Order: sequence, then structure tokens, then C-alpha cells
Amino acid sequence: MLDRKLINHEFSNIKGVIFLNVASVVIPPKCVQDAYFGFTKQYIKTFGKNVIPNAWDMIRSTRKNVAKLINAEPLEIAFVKNTTEGIGIIANGLPFKPGGNVIIVDQEHPANLYTWINLQKKGVQLRVIKSRNNDIFIEDIIDKIDENTKAITISAVQFSTGVYTDLVRLGNICKDNKIIFIVDGIQAIGRLNIDVKKMNINYLACGGHKGLLATPGAGFVYCDSAIVNDVTPVYACYQSVVNHVKPLTTRTDFSKIEWHDDARRLESGNLNYAGIAGINAGVRLINKLGIKEIEKNIIELEDVLVKRIKHLGFEFRTPYDKEKSSGILCIYYPQHLENELQNILDKYNIFITNRGGYIRLSIDFYNTKEQMIKVSEAFEELSKII
Ligand SMILES: Cc1ncc(COP(=O)(O)O)c(C=O)c1O
Repeated sequence: MLDRKLINHEFSNIKGVIFLNVASVVIPPKCVQDAYFGFTKQYIKTFGKNVIPNAWDMIRSTRKNVAKLINAEPLEIAFVKNTTEGIGIIANGLPFKPGGNVIIVDQEHPANLYTWINLQKKGVQLRVIKSRNNDIFIEDIIDKIDENTKAITISAVQFSTGVYTDLVRLGNICKDNKIIFIVDGIQAIGRLNIDVKKMNINYLACGGHKGLLATPGAGFVYCDSAIVNDVTPVYACYQSVVNHVKPLTTRTDFSKIEWHDDARRLESGNLNYAGIAGINAGVRLINKLGIKEIEKNIIELEDVLVKRIKHLGFEFRTPYDKEKSSGILCIYYPQHLENELQNILDKYNIFITNRGGYIRLSIDFYNTKEQMIKVSEAFEELSKII
């Protein structure tokens, strides 16, 4: 059972609101706000003294907590700006050779797409899987694999449909075929139980402003210790290496760089410390509540909602299938009724994403069954004008 008292305390900012928009941005809980603003206040109060050394202690703690959430080792976690940067680091850091191919799905968010498109300049072939009826089939991915397939990259949950891909199955296929398995985790991490070891994921990137409960501009990557030494960092600074000249002064050896042999090689320069402090607090809360319990709650709420609205005649963009549910539902509406739709949502105080022609409702653990009932009432009203 989720600790509702704790959740209500942490999310007092969204009291009275049915917030179904975590797939876009989360409203950070109190603990995240305290950590985020606390860092900045301390920075100012101490005139910056010791703030950065202390921040690295906080980062060590965040590494541990994030690792625990996804069943990784702390030194398999590095902090980055966002998902896009995380994906860019692996796409540009792995030693892809001309003739090799990478498999991707046509529904991917630009964060996990453009950097791969760009890689074609280096002679890497991009094999794009076409979704069918907005769904993704692992069989279609298998059909594209050959001896030159070097990596498969996919979102755990697709941003425009909410489709969850069976990462255990896909991870096993990658392992059997010696293919690097890369995951954009942002729509799943913190909401669904992602176990990188059980799923044989080699690399995962995730921004902080959705399921991690934090703010934009800070995120993390997981890099499997089995592949980390094959990744040449695209950015580097003294944080990325074992030995650096101390105090930082003029370098005399320009022949080589001694990278960390763990994910820290992927970190460079000063990081978004306030943002990472926020991630630490968010992940602590998630770990305290329990990710398995969180996932169970989200999937149950989705089920409640679907059962109550499926007979109302709406066309679902999400190919609803229990095995592929993620707590994110996309539903079409006639675009000329946009104002009427918004009026009903406002009346019920419901926050969702409107993508002009379809809406996306994204459930998180702070939502309740009572809220799902209210949402279904709003849909009933909407169905009368469609
Ligand atoms: C699947 C997916 N990947 C990535 C992003 C965002 O990427 P970034 O963290 O780089 O802003 C989003 C949404 O904003 C998303 O839905």
C-alpha cells in the first residue's frame, strides 16, 4: 500500500487539481523543492565556499539512490543535462564503423532520433521499424536484425502513444545477438519498475522532470560496466579522468587521457547541482514508497479509467493492451471542439497534454481512484458533444 499521508504532504501544491501531465512535466514534491532551493540558498549564504566539494558528496549520494531505483551499481550512473545529451553521448561515443547498423522505431521522440539520423554521416545505417496501428511489435524488430546490427535503441514508453515495450524480451534478444541495448527511459523511470540487469539494458538515458519528480536541465545515464570502457566521451573535463593536474594549471602531457573506467567518464564540467539535488530527493521519495507499489498503483488506476470510458465511443490512439500499458493514455478528439474540450477539463480541474487532435493523460502515484472517477465523468460530458 502506498503511504497516502506522505504523498498528500509532499504534493500539497497539486491539492484540488487532477494532475495527469507527468508525461510532459511533473510538479515537484515538497522534498524536491526544498533540495533544489536549499542548494541555491546555501550557495548564496556561503558565498560559494565549499559548495562544489559538498555538491560532489551529494552527487555520490544521488548516484547510489538512482542506482538502487534501477538495480544498477552506483558507478554505472552519470549525471547529464537531459535525455537528449545522454543519448548523444552514447551515439557519438561508441566505436560505430561504416557498414554497421542501428535499429530504431519510427515513433521515437527527437531526443532518441536526431542524433541517430546524424550518425548516418559516419556510414552507419539506420534501420527504422514502422509502427503498425500505433503499436510496436518486437517481431518487426527481430526481422531487421542481422550480423551488422550494433545497437537497438528504443523508448521504454513511447511519448505519443504510451506504448510500453517488453524490455525483458528485447533485452534478451540483444544479449543473444551481442547487440548493444539502449533505452530512452524518461517516460518510465520513477513510474514503472525498470531493472536494467534483468532487462539486459546496456545504456539508459533519463531527464529529471517527469517520473523522477525533479526539474528540467538535469538527468542521468546508466552505462553498463561491461561496455563503459568502449565509450569515448564526447565531452570531458577533470571530473571525467583518474588523474588531473592539481591544482588545475598548465598541462605538460598532451599524449593521452586517463579516463575513469566507470560512468564518471561521461560527466564533465560543473553539473546542474540544484537539479541533481532535486533528483536525489525525488528518487529517495520513490524508493521510500517502493517502485513496485508505484507501478502497481499506476496500472490499476489506468484500468479503472479505461473500464469507465471505453464504451463512450472515443477513439484511442493508444493501442490498449494490458501487457503494454504504462499509465499513459492517448485519445483522439475532433479538433474543432478544442475549446469545448478545454472548458470541460477546466471545469473538472484536469491537467493533461493537448496535442491538437489527441490528448494525453499520464497517471502517477499521487493520482487516486476518486480522481479517475472524476475524469470519467468529464469524459461522459465530452462524449455528449462529440
Ligand atoms: C520519450 C522522450 N524522450 C525524451 C524526452 C525529453 O528529452 P530531454 O530530457 O532531452 O528534454 C521526452 C519528453 O520531453 C520524451 O517523451
